[in-house]
Amino acid sequence: MAKKPSLTFSCTDCGASFNKWSGRCDGCGEWNTIQQDQGISSGPPSKSLGPKRGAAMVLTDLATQEAPPPRSHSGIAEFDRVLGGGLVPASAILVGGDPGIGKSTLLLQAAAHFAQAGLKTIYVSGEEASAQVRMRAQRLGLAQSPVKLAAETNLRDILTTLDAERPQLAIIDSIQTMWADNVDSAPGSVSQVRAASHELTAFAKRTGTSVILVGHVTKEGQIAGPRVVEHMVDTVLYFEGERGHQFRILRSVKNRFGPADEIGVFEMTGRGLAEVTNPSALFLSERGQPSPGSVVFAGIEGTRPVLVELQALVAPSPHSQARRTVVGWDSGRLAMILAVLEARCGIPFAGLDVYLNVAGGMKISEPAADLAVAAAILSAREDVALPAETVVFGEISLSGALRPASQTENRLKEAQKLGFTAAITPSGGKTVGTSGIKLNTMADLTGFVGEVFGAG
Ligand code: TYD
Ligand code: MG
Repeated sequence: MAKKPSLTFSCTDCGASFNKWSGRCDGCGEWNTIQQDQGISSGPPSKSLGPKRGAAMVLTDLATQEAPPPRSHSGIAEFDRVLGGGLVPASAILVGGDPGIGKSTLLLQAAAHFAQAGLKTIYVSGEEASAQVRMRAQRLGLAQSPVKLAAETNLRDILTTLDAERPQLAIIDSIQTMWADNVDSAPGSVSQVRAASHELTAFAKRTGTSVILVGHVTKEGQIAGPRVVEHMVDTVLYFEGERGHQFRILRSVKNRFGPADEIGVFEMTGRGLAEVTNPSALFLSERGQPSPGSVVFAGIEGTRPVLVELQALVAPSPHSQARRTVVGWDSGRLAMILAVLEARCGIPFAGLDVYLNVAGGMKISEPAADLAVAAAILSAREDVALPAETVVFGEISLSGALRPASQTENRLKEAQKLGFTAAITPSGGKTVGTSGIKLNTMADLTGFVGEVFGAG
């Protein structure tokens, strides 16, 4: 008896497959995205391609000389750098961020600058009426810029217009408002967002127009709609920031045309976003006198050194289970550092609440922040401030050994530029010794605790 073919189901959002249907995808958590796959999942295809010959592919050498893509510059240096050094023709870019963070403001400013630099630029708003966008342009002092503007959500009309106009840059604000009439669901739904992104990305590739898609981010920090949009586009940028802080960070999380993890720093002012050319000075601007729990970390973001202040608070816990709260860093990594401090240095944290905050709403992900985090926590726990004008950086291994961070010299140079005179770092970091900063190096965490806090 022939085996009954098994049915499979997959998520139209993240692509995960399952052997039964469910209302919510276990893979990505989206609702109503599970569909039964067409055809039989296992076994060879029922019909082979057959004997008809296809066309021969053109094979090339790896050494084929290709000129680097020509790039256009907006003149907003922070924006151009995050793109990898300017805008590449025919590229598709997704700019994601929370509602109200400043995406429309940023892209209207970028559009105006690209247009002033000679690029034919079209800005399509699906969220605001043209009059509203014009008012914003006026407020930003950009009303005279030759950007072409439309308020439209019908994808077919947008593509028809773009095809006729053939701009060099088209900005679609936002992808969640776009509506493709061949897809049978509401704007903002997974299938609409995916269809619109696909059409617009294909348009970019076909015509050479660079397309920037604006996307809102859900509370969970994902671009609302299909994850596959992130796979479709060449570049994914996130625009981040904290409400209540005026600065914003544009971060590349994926870039086929440049380094990922590059950041651009902006400040939201009454006249739009202003570039911050010296982020370290901004991040340290609220720092007071040296105090327990406060440590300056010399970090690297993308291609550039950035100094940030880490703040820790350690206090006896009133809860049966002590709290570990982190803002701006990885909570798993914090747990690891506490475990290493306990196991390798014999410093207990049981019954103590530990809070860690990266000042100013900055987010850091470098392992090189380990030692600065440990320093901030110990400084808070012992109620002892670190020596003044000192930066800290280095990675901590599970054994308690300290590992040098990359780009030691660049970190030290930035620290010196901002008036720091000493650095606590793992031994073995590559320095050429030109930076004029007093180095206090150590090989392991126990040595660090002994040296800095006189215990261990
Ligand atoms: P917006 O660009 O509309 O955000 P998004 O497109 O990400 O939803 O920005 C909204 C906020 O920015 C709004 O709260 C007002 C503020 N803003 C300024 O502070 N200064 C300005 O010049 C502009 C245009 C906006
Ligand atoms: Mg907007």
